[in-house]
Amino acid sequence: MIRVDIDAGATQLVLVTDDDGLLHQAGFGSGVVGEPLAFPPILYPVAYPTYGQEVNREHALRITHADGATTTRLRAVDATEEPVDGGVLHRIELVDRAAPVTVTLCLRTWPAYDLLEQWVEIDAEQPVTVHRAMAAGLAFGGQAPHLTHWGGGWAGEWTETTEPLTSGTKTVASSGAVRPSLMRPAVFLYAPDGPATETEGPVLAATLLWGGDVRVDAEVALHGLSRLLIGHQDVGSEVVVDHFESPHAAFVWSDHGIGPTSRALHRFAREQVLRDGTGIRATVVNTWEAVGFNLDQASLMAQVDRAAELGTELFLLDDGWFGTSYPRNDDTQGLGDWAVDRSKLPDGLGPLIDHTLDRGLRFGLWVEPEMVNPRSELYEAHPDWVVHEPGRQRREERSQLALDLCIPEAREFTVDVITKVLADHPGISYLKWDANRDLTEAGTAAIERARATWDVMAEVARRHPDVGLMACASGGGRSDLGTLRYFHELWTSDNTDPVDRVRIQWGASHLLPASALGAHVTRWGQRPVAFGCAVAMSGRFGFDLDLTALDSDEWATCLQAVEDYHQIRDVVQQGDLYRLVSPVGSSHGAWAYLLGDRAIVFAFALDDTEMPPGPIELPFEVLDLTDRTPGRAGEVRPSIDGRTLLWPTAPSPSALV
Ligand code: DGJ
Repeated sequence: MIRVDIDAGATQLVLVTDDDGLLHQAGFGSGVVGEPLAFPPILYPVAYPTYGQEVNREHALRITHADGATTTRLRAVDATEEPVDGGVLHRIELVDRAAPVTVTLCLRTWPAYDLLEQWVEIDAEQPVTVHRAMAAGLAFGGQAPHLTHWGGGWAGEWTETTEPLTSGTKTVASSGAVRPSLMRPAVFLYAPDGPATETEGPVLAATLLWGGDVRVDAEVALHGLSRLLIGHQDVGSEVVVDHFESPHAAFVWSDHGIGPTSRALHRFAREQVLRDGTGIRATVVNTWEAVGFNLDQASLMAQVDRAAELGTELFLLDDGWFGTSYPRNDDTQGLGDWAVDRSKLPDGLGPLIDHTLDRGLRFGLWVEPEMVNPRSELYEAHPDWVVHEPGRQRREERSQLALDLCIPEAREFTVDVITKVLADHPGISYLKWDANRDLTEAGTAAIERARATWDVMAEVARRHPDVGLMACASGGGRSDLGTLRYFHELWTSDNTDPVDRVRIQWGASHLLPASALGAHVTRWGQRPVAFGCAVAMSGRFGFDLDLTALDSDEWATCLQAVEDYHQIRDVVQQGDLYRLVSPVGSSHGAWAYLLGDRAIVFAFALDDTEMPPGPIELPFEVLDLTDRTPGRAGEVRPSIDGRTLLWPTAPSPSALV
């Protein structure tokens, strides 16, 4: 019998073979490692179910073999383990009983984060068709399985759904090929015994570290047997290969509710994923919501002056600065022609960059390097570089097409766009990398396209290690912990109505630390600026509104917010998150960050329709409390015993920070 005990801290897995060599999952969760088996191995669920192995169950793997056979029956022949940086890599070799095909289950532990990373590798003597190769399939018992997932698309990112799982299979999947989290979630919570709370109940957080499409099948079969299969979207992704490595999944288990899974994922993201993830992020002023495509040097310089007076640290020039024959005056043209539009900026970007640096801010620039408008010089020169299917009508989204990064010249062009922009303007130290369409004709090369996109990102990161990079894909379309290893932070959502943002940032916090979540004060929703500041201060703070048009009260509010944020941002960006009151389906939300002996509590009243849900219970004792709510400086006192706070009392929406 082969027995493998996999110990990733709170997340543990025990795998055993039966007499016939079939691999079973004998335990999953906390405290299962090293425990004696209660039953013979054959009575435990199959660890990695294949097409043809089990009846009436979903499969994790389906291959058509070189001889045309469609079923795969695996037996374990070997298990090895080796120490890797901060953990152990287990490799369990399974071979097909008939065909010369090896499937290796790879399990990499990260005990410092209670995190288990899992993927499969397939090796065949002759090419096989891989239809489906999920990264993992975990079996569960439990009485009332529930799945929480997030989706919502543009401006609705991180819309939360929690649902009971009933007999059958619930599938949550994406199909945009290179922006997996715009339409579908980047993290899933599976709770076997009814929905977990923040502090109670067993729960599994599962995510795919993958910039392509994702698929999760949550299956409830007979006799309460459930399984969560997670991997890349297999529909349309068949490949014929002799070697295949699946995208990697990551799991965090908790017996004590959802909170610990998020804190572990945040630490993992900061320390192992995000570039300079433990660094403090700059406070940004962006131009998109302030001026859109309507750029000219004098008014941009005026924005820079105001940004400097506010005490912000990075000025970001968004879309609209480029295009020669096809000036970028709206989104219908110019993408691909990365030369400065001299009709807007007659002397180029140089004077604006110099002005920004002189005022003590860094300068950042928007690019969308993998995209092209048909109305562009680039497209006229290289119509064959775009993703398309010959003889079929091409689909445009936002009047644009995507460059086919599987074409080496297109890939090189994309990397060179950035290299050239940076070489021409050495004062630029930050880029916002946008991607405003899905791939609708990705075809069976969907996986290669996702990998080619990563190759481009990796090369950019390699060539420009000192340039900060924000991931944006019509907002939060690239929020996965695979893609983010090439970036410092992301644009959480174009929806910056602070009322909606409370729910969006709440959702995003299940996966991402606040340091990564770009959150800007804008005019969306026409809310009080003080409320917008409070919401944005709970993430990576910034502004995206016309700073020259703020009235004096608003100005004072923003000034105070920047000053306060710079005193608290280490706690927000690097602290441990405690979600306190869910704003999902309610009109109140609250969360806190804790770093050492300092904590920041954010409490939001979103409308006046409901009474506050009692005082806010804190997971720590408050000894000394200051109200940093922008526009409402003063002192609030913890009520009762120093572990509860009262909600903001101003008319909604309002905040207490
Ligand atoms: C979509 C992004 O999400 C926005 O922030 C902005 O950069 C626009 N694209 C610019 O076209």
